Amino acid sequence: MAMQGIDEDPTPHGKLTLQTLSMPADTNPYGDIFGGWLMTQMDLGGAILAQEVARGRVTTVAVGSMVFLRPVPVGATVSVYASTIDVGRTSIRTLIEVWIKDGAQQEVTKVTEGEFVYVAIDDNGRTRPVPK
Ligand SMILES: CC(C)(COP(=O)(O)OP(=O)(O)OC[C@H]1O[C@@H](n2cnc3c(N)ncnc32)[C@H](O)[C@@H]1OP(=O)(O)O)[C@@H](O)C(=O)NCCC(=O)NCCS
Repeated sequence: MAMQGIDEDPTPHGKLTLQTLSMPADTNPYGDIFGGWLMTQMDLGGAILAQEVARGRVTTVAVGSMVFLRPVPVGATVSVYASTIDVGRTSIRTLIEVWIKDGAQQEVTKVTEGEFVYVAIDDNGRTRPVPK
C-alpha cells in the first residue's frame, strides 16, 4: 500500500463515510485521543463502504499497515474516508484515511491511514461471494 507522507497530499481520498467529534471520554492518559478509538472509527467507516460494495453484511478479517501521523485533540471534527483497493472472491480491501479539522482551524489534516480487509458473509457468518 502506498502510504502518504504527512505533508505530501493535502486532500482526502475516497468517500466520506463517517463524521464525528472527538470527545474527552476518548482520550489517553496524556489528553490526546486514544488510538484504539480512532481505529474503531476507521473500522466503522470502512465497513460502511464495504457493506455497499458487498450489498450486505461484512466482517473485518484483517487490518494491514497502519500509521498514526499526528495526535488528535479533543473537540476536532473527525472524518473517515474509505476507498476500495481491490475486490476478491469474498474479500474487499479498503484504504481508510482519517482527517481532522480542529475547531480553531479551517484546514483539514490527515491523522491516520490504514488498510482494512472485509469479508462478505451471510446471515450465518459464512463467507459469500461479493456480487459483481
Ligand atoms: C472472516 C471469516 C468469516 C473468514 O472465514 P475463512 O473461513 O477464514 O474464509 P477464507 O479463508 O475463505 O477467507 C475469506 C477471504 O478473506 C481473505 N483473508 C483471510 N484472511 C486474510 C488476511 N489475514 N489478510 C487478508 N485477507 C484475508 C481471503 O483471502 C479470502 O478472500 P477472497 O475470497 O477474496 O480470496 C472468519 O475468519 C471469521 O469469522 N473471522 C472473525 C471475524 C470477526 O469477528 N471480525 C470482527 C473482529 S472486530
